[in-house]
Amino acid sequence: MKELPKVELHLHLEGAMPPAFARDMAKAKNVDISRIFDDSGAYNYDGFLEFLQVYEVATSVLIRPEDFAKLTRTVLEQSAETGVIYTEAFLSPDFCGGRDVGAWREYLHAIREAAEGAERDFGIAMRGIVTCIRHFGPDKAKETARCAAETAGDFITGFGMGGDEGKGRQGDFAYAFDMAREAGLRLTTHAGEWGGPSSVRHALDDLRVERIGHGVRAIEDPALVERLARDGVVLEVSPGSNVALGIYKWNTHPIEKLRAAGVPITVSTDDPPFFHTDMVHEYDRLAATFGWDEDMFRHIARVSIDAAFCDEPTRKRLHERIDA
Ligand code: ADE
Ligand code: ZN
Repeated sequence: MKELPKVELHLHLEGAMPPAFARDMAKAKNVDISRIFDDSGAYNYDGFLEFLQVYEVATSVLIRPEDFAKLTRTVLEQSAETGVIYTEAFLSPDFCGGRDVGAWREYLHAIREAAEGAERDFGIAMRGIVTCIRHFGPDKAKETARCAAETAGDFITGFGMGGDEGKGRQGDFAYAFDMAREAGLRLTTHAGEWGGPSSVRHALDDLRVERIGHGVRAIEDPALVERLARDGVVLEVSPGSNVALGIYKWNTHPIEKLRAAGVPITVSTDDPPFFHTDMVHEYDRLAATFGWDEDMFRHIARVSIDAAFCDEPTRKRLHERIDA
């Protein structure tokens, strides 16, 4: 499994921060975040809302562009060790200079340099999806979209939204998504993770995204599943995340049913240390639960490359690596 070339489309950069990395950063800055760890040193939370709080406390130790550069290199090195050759990372101007465009440019410069170094040293390519945070509200999302629009290009290639799907409606964020679309960015949003099928419909109709983060609860609505399959809407599925947060168990997870219905499925880890997972673990569990074999995983990697928010020469190079 480790050797299989993998493509990951849904990874939150801060959410991929190893607990030991967060502790080291906290120590260096003299802040106490011990309350977010359990006795074994893992992130400790009970349920999704507490997960989001712990996530924000962990992220609070990242205060300088250099911190994000170090995190980027660490995360990409780890991903490369699990066979990932390309990753799309969600980046949050909220945590990188408080959505100020000038500050964001400095953080982004540091992240990009680290990503280029990791590509040279570990053979993993990265692109960034600027991400607004739903529970911070539509006004902050507009500021985040401005950061995205101002830095859109060959590294920042997408715009998305994470956070608490229970807060507000997808359509409340249409202005931010319109701004990002007009800047040439490609669009995705978290939907159908905590929200039901209507959240996925609103993502498609009101935000006009081309991919959906999670989207798994579309399974509750056969007409929606048909629409996703017909229109080729790609789902960024993170089964281990859904299991860790208690949405499904492995043997009730709908990923195989969605795939069998013709929905384009990709596989990601979301926030790996929070969910005690990595891409090898995801592949192992998918193989054990649904009998997926090497051919299936190569197929998934090709679907992921076709859905990646990268330029065509990069896409071609990635296909060549999968087919090598
Ligand atoms: N931010 C980081 N991980 C997330 C998830 N699984 N859902 C929503 N927002 C997130
Ligand atoms: Zn996510």
